[in-house]
Amino acid sequence: MFVFRYCEYCVFILILIPIGPASIGLDFCLHGFEHLYGIPQHAESHQLKNTSDGDAYRLYNLDVYGYKIHDKMGIYGSVPYLLAHKPGRTLGIFWLNASETLVEINTEPAVKYTLTQMGPVAAKQKVRCRTDVHWMSESGIIDVFLLTGPTPSDVFGQYSYLTGTQAMPPLFSLGYHQCRWNYEDEQDVKAVDAGFDEHDIPYDVMWLDIEHTEGKRYFTWDKKRFPNPRRMQELLRSKNRKLVVISDPHIKIDPDYSVYVKAKEQGFFVRNHEGGDFEGVCWPGLSSYLDFTNPKVREWYSGLFIFSAYQGSTDILYIWNDMNEPSVFRGPELTMRKNAIHHGNWEHRELHNIYGFYQQMATAEGLIQRSKGKERPFVLTRSFFAGSQKYGAVWTGDNTAEWSYLKISIPMLLTLSITGISFCGADVGGFVGNPEAELLVRWYQAGAYQPFFRGHATMNTKRREPWLFGEENTQLIREAIRQRYALLPYWYSLFYRAHVAAQPVMRPLWIEFPEELDTFGVEDEYMLGSALLVHPVTEPKASTVDVFLPGSNEVWYDSKTFALWEGARTVKIPVALDTIPVFQRGGSIVPVKTTIGKSTGCMTDSPYGLRVALSTKDSAVGEFYLDDGHSFQYLHQKQFLHRKFSFLSGVLINSCADKRGHYPSKCVVEQIFVLGLKKQPSSVTTRSSDGKDEPVAFTYCAQMSTLHLEKLSLNIGADWEVHIR
Ligand code: NOJ
Repeated sequence: MFVFRYCEYCVFILILIPIGPASIGLDFCLHGFEHLYGIPQHAESHQLKNTSDGDAYRLYNLDVYGYKIHDKMGIYGSVPYLLAHKPGRTLGIFWLNASETLVEINTEPAVKYTLTQMGPVAAKQKVRCRTDVHWMSESGIIDVFLLTGPTPSDVFGQYSYLTGTQAMPPLFSLGYHQCRWNYEDEQDVKAVDAGFDEHDIPYDVMWLDIEHTEGKRYFTWDKKRFPNPRRMQELLRSKNRKLVVISDPHIKIDPDYSVYVKAKEQGFFVRNHEGGDFEGVCWPGLSSYLDFTNPKVREWYSGLFIFSAYQGSTDILYIWNDMNEPSVFRGPELTMRKNAIHHGNWEHRELHNIYGFYQQMATAEGLIQRSKGKERPFVLTRSFFAGSQKYGAVWTGDNTAEWSYLKISIPMLLTLSITGISFCGADVGGFVGNPEAELLVRWYQAGAYQPFFRGHATMNTKRREPWLFGEENTQLIREAIRQRYALLPYWYSLFYRAHVAAQPVMRPLWIEFPEELDTFGVEDEYMLGSALLVHPVTEPKASTVDVFLPGSNEVWYDSKTFALWEGARTVKIPVALDTIPVFQRGGSIVPVKTTIGKSTGCMTDSPYGLRVALSTKDSAVGEFYLDDGHSFQYLHQKQFLHRKFSFLSGVLINSCADKRGHYPSKCVVEQIFVLGLKKQPSSVTTRSSDGKDEPVAFTYCAQMSTLHLEKLSLNIGADWEVHIR
């Protein structure tokens, strides 16, 4: 085994050893570091724990129904990448190995020796803390990247050079998704879809689980339940909504199933070590597994999504890859035997953790190809590896309808987010079991402020569409979902930052406040971008929550009451069932939609508002990104709008942030809301780019220091100013 000592002044080390049958390992000593994060996926705290008295963190992709929480066992996906942080320095270790991997962490805290213990000389010294990290993989080579930061944002950039950034999601996929195992038939889909309209709840995507197929043969439809899939999709299309259907990697062994026959003929399945096709049991019964590690298989699989091949599919149909750890019901630990053989004669053990990654890659490519390269795909995957962010979204699998699972969704998603996977979410309501109404409401409120927002439930659970829990709860869920839709311009702009600059959408506090020790262990609240701090309520019958507001020079505004709080303190916030504790950071400007429609597609032309929260220096900045929401024109034709807002000395300016982009938009900013304006203005005027000034009516509230401007008509994409005197 190599023992390699890392000192923080080393720059970059890459050690290669030839492939051998034995395991490999490497030790790192991180001097001065005691806060480590990353190596998803575990149902564990955000900050990595010491493993000295227990199990190591295991990276081994497994299908674990109703997984245990506070556990270091491997679940669906793996990213062998961790970050270490201390004030003044963040670094990353990316261990590029897809075989089963264990990570041990041992932190020795800082020790101050006293006179009596060490004598007079040593007494002046303080021994720095240190963390030892031990990586061990079953096979492969040592191929390790040290990312030297020094800031968290630098590390994100460095990691993205190696693995890519978050794919820019189509706008609809940032709306709300409604899933269930299963929506029974076309009639059921129609009724649920209508339910959202009847109850005035926006949603974007209807999902169909495995029962929509003919006997779990993916790319087919159950003819009795879904006799006319196109008609069903046209109904959804008429409301600007989409459909997502499931497509798993196991293929039913059936000589009458064309997908099976063609894959078999071409030798596209993973083989067993005797040379035949690997066979294992999954939903359809005996199945073989497509070998997505083979580029030819990926190319062929991508082709299956072409409209002429995938009968009954239309361009509003998108894909969900599940069970791709891969899950094999009677296999060891419910997965594939390690001696199964892949393309190039690689044993499964060598690449287990990257199998699902390749399925999502091929699926995303297939969706791009079916649109002749024009449209952005949406693919949700359960299994993932370093770099999966390039192909779509990830969710945390089969969680349970219990408060503790709602709570742990936050650190789980924070960990995914800082390891490159910004588009992540947890099943709202909890997949296994039946949530009580209060838990469901709180979960919707939390989910509305998490990147991938989907309600889902397993078979035989009670139906739980948002309107089934009485009018009061329907109203609460409606309001949570509406808050999501109001903030879509902000979400979309954050995803653009993740896409172009690798900055996570959902951020642990330590990312935004890297010098503040108090933030390093926080995992019950987080930032969305740099402007919003969210502290979801995750306890039953809560009447208050303790919200930590970081930053000694910061001010924060309660987004519901507009109350102002100074930073560097914990405040007790009273909460009712309709409270979602969200705070806007002083110094930020957040773009919102002022009118909510049935779906994101119905809101294209609806007006915007700006929420300006002033800093202690009475200033604020923000940005806004817009494109057509679905195509690659933003990339190939530079058809996008990137604007910058700034507020200084009473003047709010909308200016261009990126001159390369052009995208005509008819949309106007109709409302501007300023928080923290201490003095009542005597006049407010707008100034357009031709220099013309127009007076504006305004409402000032001295008690809350807020200024409201309404009925404005300022084009979102044009240069203009608002003068507050
Ligand atoms: C397991 C997935 O985690 C779950 O979301 C899905 O509903 C079932 N498989 C059935 O497809």
